Amino acid sequence: MGRATILTGLGAAVPESVLTNEMLAARMDTSDEWIVSRTGIRERRVVTPDIATGDLAVQAGAHALKSAEVDAVDAVVLATTTPDHRCPATAPSVAARLGLGRVAAYDVGAVCSGFLYGLASGSGLVSAGIADRVLVIGAEAFTTIIDPGDRTTAPIFGDGAGAVVLEAGDEARRGALVAFDLGSDGDLADLIMIPAGGSRRRVARAPGDEFMKMQGRPVFMNAVTRMVESSRNVLEKTGWPPESVDLLVGHQANVRILYAVADQLGLPHEKAFVNLDRYGNTAAASIPLALADAAQRGRLCAGDRVLLTAFGGGATWGAVALEWPRLTSY
Ligand code: COA
Repeated sequence: MGRATILTGLGAAVPESVLTNEMLAARMDTSDEWIVSRTGIRERRVVTPDIATGDLAVQAGAHALKSAEVDAVDAVVLATTTPDHRCPATAPSVAARLGLGRVAAYDVGAVCSGFLYGLASGSGLVSAGIADRVLVIGAEAFTTIIDPGDRTTAPIFGDGAGAVVLEAGDEARRGALVAFDLGSDGDLADLIMIPAGGSRRRVARAPGDEFMKMQGRPVFMNAVTRMVESSRNVLEKTGWPPESVDLLVGHQANVRILYAVADQLGLPHEKAFVNLDRYGNTAAASIPLALADAAQRGRLCAGDRVLLTAFGGGATWGAVALEWPRLTSY
């Protein structure tokens, strides 16, 4: 049997503070009815000023290590759009705070596809023999880059973190990551962008340039197209017929996107897991947070065929197929 990557632990964390649609409607020109009907989102968790991405990452990482019943890894990969500082990366500090010692630790940036890029990176370390065990975390304090008065983005995004432990193992073992597909199109970089604060435009030229801007319509259309295409690519690599997928855990951006992807793959809506109603779009945290939620709700059983897919800023996208492991906690 070949050296495969096995998912052996899962954990998540969200800040306590809840921001409901009604609370948003009280401070901007929007309504619960508009947000629910256009996105499916009812509320989201938001960080208070004393909480940073690294804090959520440490909490989710600790849960994942406990779930895997391990206290050491060889590497920490943190997918985030909202690092604690522009420099250095947040992963080394997360590794140190988790008591993991002087292990390899680095951040991955692919916005809402970040967790899938992180999974591929962690799995690559394992299959290359560079690491035997990797902690992959997706964590965001995404609301810190959102203009609180912008009705086109403020209702969409929330904060949170999720994490998994990956280990080298037998490819026949439950929990194996079976296939990956990743892609990007830099010509679409303008669709999701913070105009100022980087090396290209160091200082804001217009008010609000330090916040994320999103062109919702084209993002929606590209998200559906690329998530379907990427999902088909991994299904082809695995040889799984689409109807054999037990659960589609897509990036939690918009329930209409998730159902459109399910429709085009020929999956009933019941197979598309949805928890964005309570958390909104948590970018790189969204898929591991959804996995932990699905596991807690009994929607994932050992041996289930699980399809993950995401689309995000860059533009970036990806899909991963895995067989669900037997986990004792999450
Ligand atoms: N409340 C009320 N009205 C709003 C609103 C809000 N929060 N936000 C926008 N509107 C208005 C617009 O001004 C527009 O009004 P107009 O017709 O008078 O010009 C109207 O609603 C429609 O706006 P539009 O942007 O075309 O709506 P939409 O149906 O595309 O929905 C999104 C907007 C953002 C919900 C949708 O485009 C979307 O979900 N896109 C993908 C976002 C995403 O998933 N991003 C992350 C992917 S990584």
